[in-house]
Amino acid sequence: MVRIERILAAMTIDEKIGQLNMVAGSGAVTGPGRRGGLEEGIRNGRIGNVLNVWGSAEVHALQRLAVEQSRLGIPLLVGLDVVHGHRTIFPVPLAEAALFDPATWESTARVAAAEAAADGVTLTFAPMVDVARDPRWGRIVESPGEDPWVAAEFAAAKIRGFQGSALRATSSLAATAKHLCGYGAVGAGREYASVDVSERTLHEVHLPAFAAAVAAGAAAIMPAFIDVAAVPMTANAPLLQGWLRGRRAFEGVVISDYNAIAELCNQGVAGNTVAAATLALKAGVDIDMASEAYTQGLPQALQRGLISTSQLDESVSRVLRLKERLGLFDDPYRQGALRSESGPARELAREVARRAIVLLTHRARVLPIGQTVGHLAVIGPLAAAGGEMLGPWPAAGRPAETVSLLEGLKTALPRCRIDSVPGVDTCHDDLRGVPDAIERCRAAELVILCLGEDASMSGEAGSRADLGLPGCQRALAEAVLAVGKPVIVVLTSGRPLTVPWLFERADAVLASWFLGSEAGNAIADVLTGKFNPTGRLPVTWPRHGGQVPIFFGQRPSGRPFKAGARLSSTYLDIPPTPQFPFGHGLSYSSFTLRDLRCTPRVVTGGETIGVSVSVQNDGALAGEATLFLFVHDPVASISRPVLELEGVRRIALAPGATGILSWQLPVSALTFLGADLDPVLEPGEFEIHVGESADPGGLLRCTIEVLPSGPMRQD
Ligand code: NOJ
Repeated sequence: MVRIERILAAMTIDEKIGQLNMVAGSGAVTGPGRRGGLEEGIRNGRIGNVLNVWGSAEVHALQRLAVEQSRLGIPLLVGLDVVHGHRTIFPVPLAEAALFDPATWESTARVAAAEAAADGVTLTFAPMVDVARDPRWGRIVESPGEDPWVAAEFAAAKIRGFQGSALRATSSLAATAKHLCGYGAVGAGREYASVDVSERTLHEVHLPAFAAAVAAGAAAIMPAFIDVAAVPMTANAPLLQGWLRGRRAFEGVVISDYNAIAELCNQGVAGNTVAAATLALKAGVDIDMASEAYTQGLPQALQRGLISTSQLDESVSRVLRLKERLGLFDDPYRQGALRSESGPARELAREVARRAIVLLTHRARVLPIGQTVGHLAVIGPLAAAGGEMLGPWPAAGRPAETVSLLEGLKTALPRCRIDSVPGVDTCHDDLRGVPDAIERCRAAELVILCLGEDASMSGEAGSRADLGLPGCQRALAEAVLAVGKPVIVVLTSGRPLTVPWLFERADAVLASWFLGSEAGNAIADVLTGKFNPTGRLPVTWPRHGGQVPIFFGQRPSGRPFKAGARLSSTYLDIPPTPQFPFGHGLSYSSFTLRDLRCTPRVVTGGETIGVSVSVQNDGALAGEATLFLFVHDPVASISRPVLELEGVRRIALAPGATGILSWQLPVSALTFLGADLDPVLEPGEFEIHVGESADPGGLLRCTIEVLPSGPMRQD
């Protein structure tokens, strides 16, 4: 602290503003425009932080300018979107969420942090913890899915993983929880659109993950590009100052999104750069990412008394403190070069990737493919597309080092003849390759059809209005299905795709998302039965784009859906139920749940409810069951969601074996935000549901009673 005060006292206004300035290098392009003069700016103290630069040679060269040639020698923060791996790429976050396993979420972040830190990076713009309930929005791929409880668990695990036990450690990165908040609720799923959510939804759905990130010690927070109910997040003092710094006591750094401060002018709350810079700084945004609004606007804002020197100093201190916590003043170069991916990291990538695969349908028991298969046709635009498997935000991942499905299958089935052609590409209307593809299907015993989106079709600016297969892939699929051979579809995508016709007609469909460096090996492990699938959907999968936003935690309707009843909550043309519920995912085994027990059945405020259920593996293969614990408050002072997730447990079972899964559910988990948005635990009956997914038909249920005592408020 003494050091920081000393530096602050020695700084000119321009040097202070320089510490709030983050400028893009050319390693990756993740936003509009880039001004030149990076080196000169660092030397003269006008640029205190950079992004999109990595590689120890590149980073060290810039760091040397800051440390050795700038007047005060303050080291740079070096930021990068290390989202799902750095050099070793793990599955995209939506896929990793399908594991429902915080320990794994933490371990992949740990590996990513170590690789990125060795490559000169000090700060990651991750984890993204936006709850996403609209698959039109391309950034659903970067999210942990639709559920606030999962998002909070994911946020905490990722922060622990990226930051390790101490930020000073040379294998740690400072983590940035983003994008505060509500970004997943952009109107009609359209990127950068306005958000209008109720105060209740903000607090129940969108903020818990950020609260968890702060509680886990997140070093930084990034406000979202969007406005929430007319107040752009980059200038949202009530949420940034009031909620984040006030109620959550966040002491870290707030970093704007790319160019977002300048974009306050487009959002209609600032008439010029001075006003934009003033609004952002006053709202608590410390670092200006790439807009130069602080450099251009803050000197005048100070002169005109729009902001005070102490406001400026507070932000500068926070940035300097983060640099100090990272150990940069003592060792600005942290450590040497990342030479290559490590074997253990690749093994982890394969393990996580195969666990992320969700077996969506399996009609004809065609899986797993035995080693005896003699001739396969591997068809489709994503069969040999190794590089695409990296997905959006590939950081330093290398397409050439990424295993395609074709490569994975060739390794897994060395004696099998494998013919492969794309047939079509992912997005154009050129069907000339289809006849050749059909010939190969006719000659083969079985077809693996690799369809879906390429990596550019989701992620930032990746919204899609049509959730079907892009290009002319449907025509290819129809032609392949018409051949009459068994067809297994591997669906690569950053979001649920609405292809009900494919789910009906293919013999099996696997959601393989973007699985990263080891994608092909992981998919081959599942197809050949080396690994019995365990992935479960972290999002409800719609039948039709017209159903979105769709999620399991809806509030009950006064006229609940009843098949055949016109005056019930439904559509005229399709049922309101999803294609696949949240939590869905098949295994080569099947499980039976019995004996849901809740004890005690009558409880008071501070108690804990023991919940247990017995699970039997009815299949012929060893497998893993994943069970979800939901609660529901059937009669409360306000309408409560039909299901709220409170826990997930997994159990590995040998064929025929039975095991018990149990939870300790604190009664406080039944607390909700009452009519005035204050937490309240209301006495009365509560339902506890356990099942393999959020499908109401498959849930076991028991009821408990909460007595009016203890810390409860009685209305
Ligand atoms: C814009 C994205 O919204 C954000 O998530 C990312 O961290 C920055 N660009 C930097 O690349």
